[in-house]
Amino acid sequence: MTLRSVLTGTGSSLPVRIVTNAELAEKVDTSDEWIVERTGIRTRHIADEGETTATLATDAARNALEAVGLTGADIDLIVLATATPDQTFPATATIVQEAIGARGGIAFDVAAVCSGFVYAVGVADSMLRTGMAKRALVIGSETFSRILDWEDRATCVLFGDGAGAIVLEARESDAADAPGILATRLHADGAHNQLLYVDGGASTTGEIGKLRMKGREVFRHAVNNLASVLGEVLGDAGFTADDIDWLVPHQANARILDATARKLNMPAEKVVVTVDRHANTSAASVPLALDVAMRDGRIKPGDLVMIEAMGGGFTWGASLIRI
Ligand code: COA
Repeated sequence: MTLRSVLTGTGSSLPVRIVTNAELAEKVDTSDEWIVERTGIRTRHIADEGETTATLATDAARNALEAVGLTGADIDLIVLATATPDQTFPATATIVQEAIGARGGIAFDVAAVCSGFVYAVGVADSMLRTGMAKRALVIGSETFSRILDWEDRATCVLFGDGAGAIVLEARESDAADAPGILATRLHADGAHNQLLYVDGGASTTGEIGKLRMKGREVFRHAVNNLASVLGEVLGDAGFTADDIDWLVPHQANARILDATARKLNMPAEKVVVTVDRHANTSAASVPLALDVAMRDGRIKPGDLVMIEAMGGGFTWGASLIRI
């Protein structure tokens, strides 16, 4: 029998405060029309004081556990993807571990920015399949509002805060159509690490810094890298793009989503889109979108779901999951 990582449930959490494009236009020289046309974003959730990456992650984790009827005591692995941890250390995953009452297992953070959740899925899947853990919470949680330069209109309109979580469980099966993670590919190319970065850090300026981005160049790389990694994962799993029931992409920009779906020849109806409501929530965007589509009944047991993301580093990756 082969061990597989089965996705048994999802959860999410968003800050209470919703900020519209019109509100941003009062602070920087932009407009609702420009933001909607170039990005598809209409609103984003922004964390208030007291809402942090750890509190959002904890809420999303509890929400996911509730969905599958488990408690923190059932979890022996927490992999949390974030670029905006509560503290430089300890890992935010350990704060969540304590909050949900999951003692003694494994808990650590993964830093791959917007690709963080897909990286975390890849890492957790490897650990579950080698028997290091039995039941994992994989979480993407971010408060990018805290690292935005609110005077830079080219970046501050693009991001939002939030968290999403999934429960993965190691189960044995040899059936070809059994649920589980079927294939994952992860990549990085550090040659581009100055196209999207934060201009600070514990070991350099001693300050956290602000997000900086060359948007146009990021856009170009994103579409090419995503199309190629999606092809790799489909090849590994022995499927074609036609077999995918749902594409759940990183929600950076509606135009990147459209371009990626076009490259795969996928109809827009099969792409889960939340960027209009959530903006780019970095590592949280894929699990947030997954949770939306699981809860509204679009994604059903047996469906073939492709998740993908690309982010600073550059890092990128994709994973094909049978629900
Ligand atoms: N409102 C109004 N004008 C804006 C603006 C805003 N919020 N942000 C930028 N502009 C202006 C620029 O200053 C520029 O003006 P100029 O021509 O007078 O210099 C003009 O719009 C075009 O800027 P440019 O950056 O070339 O626009 P674009 O068509 O590439 O769109 C992005 C900008 C950021 C929306 C686009 O590049 C993008 O989506 N990139 C990918 C970013 C991303 O997803 N990153 C995260 C990956 S994880």
